[in-house]
Amino acid sequence: PRVAVVIGGRSSEHGISVVTAGSVLRAIDRTKYDVLPIGITRDGRWALMADEPERMAIIDRRQPDVEQLAESDEGGVILPVDPGNREVVYSEPGSVPKALGEVDVVFPVLHGPYGEDGTLQGLLELSGVPYVGSGVLASAVGQDKEYMKRVFTSFGLKVGPYVVIRPREWERDESAARKKIIDFAGEYGWPLFVKPARAGSSIGITKVDDLSGLDEAIAAAQHHDPKIIVEAAVRGREIECGVLEFEDGPRPSVPAEIPPPEAQAYYDFEAKYIDSTPGVVPAPLTEEQTAEVQRLAVDAFEAASCEGLVRADFFLTEDGEFVINEINTMPGMTPISMYPQMWQASGISYPDLIDRLVQAALR
Ligand code: DAL
Ligand code: MG
Repeated sequence: PRVAVVIGGRSSEHGISVVTAGSVLRAIDRTKYDVLPIGITRDGRWALMADEPERMAIIDRRQPDVEQLAESDEGGVILPVDPGNREVVYSEPGSVPKALGEVDVVFPVLHGPYGEDGTLQGLLELSGVPYVGSGVLASAVGQDKEYMKRVFTSFGLKVGPYVVIRPREWERDESAARKKIIDFAGEYGWPLFVKPARAGSSIGITKVDDLSGLDEAIAAAQHHDPKIIVEAAVRGREIECGVLEFEDGPRPSVPAEIPPPEAQAYYDFEAKYIDSTPGVVPAPLTEEQTAEVQRLAVDAFEAASCEGLVRADFFLTEDGEFVINEINTMPGMTPISMYPQMWQASGISYPDLIDRLVQAALR
């Protein structure tokens, strides 16, 4: 079969997508699949890419500016869209694509808005092309931290305290919107985590220790999404669990623990991709805790109507309760990412994992 691997995209997680895609391109069985790498630039242009996974890696592990790493092509991540000799599929945003030839299945290796959020999935539905991973609804739910929590809550999963500020609330009355956050802090205490509602890889997230840092944090989050979500700190251990759809349904991986790094206030972009904070696989949990988090991860998969794969992230609170933080419908699959490592520890190698994902899409 011919697999189009879609790479990059318009979100702030463009760079992570490129690194994940490099891993996918290296792992995919070339004897079985004809692979067509398709890049989407940061401004939304589509182009056939050079099939050079060795170039799709973080090349500078010590970028002074992490946002820059995520956002610039010249930063730590390179997007090798080869201008010479390649047929450009989209030359301008919105122009009509030229024929790509027959594609049997699309693997949207995209993180964040415009790729992991149902938009690309909708395009592929319109085109009648099978694709790896979740459909329109689950992708959209998994991208929006507010609706994700609402869905989880309605299916009986526990979520931490949060408050959402929508763009219209800011426009209507900024001080009332700000007061909403301050009242929330009054109820749950500092620190708070101020986040863009729709983003990923911890980009745009600030841990705010007191009122003095609030405005800057709001601006940082709004830079990525006009809708922001403010979450109370949940004291506890960070536990993640992968879910993969087998022929007989979704199954959980062994869980992993993200240890709290000394200097890191939370598992942020830098810890994830620059310092390569190692996760502990399997997570040191009791048998009962392991079984519970695995059950909850599959519950989360089902609650959002996911397909193919998901990584569910939890806090194990001091009271011994699992609180779900979020799901990622296209989790990072870089060489240091937890999702493939959790499956490796569950007996499924990276190449096998990629094969299963493509096969599930073709079923
Ligand atoms: N959003 C990133 C890629 C992750 O959660 O793995
Ligand atoms: Mg995410």
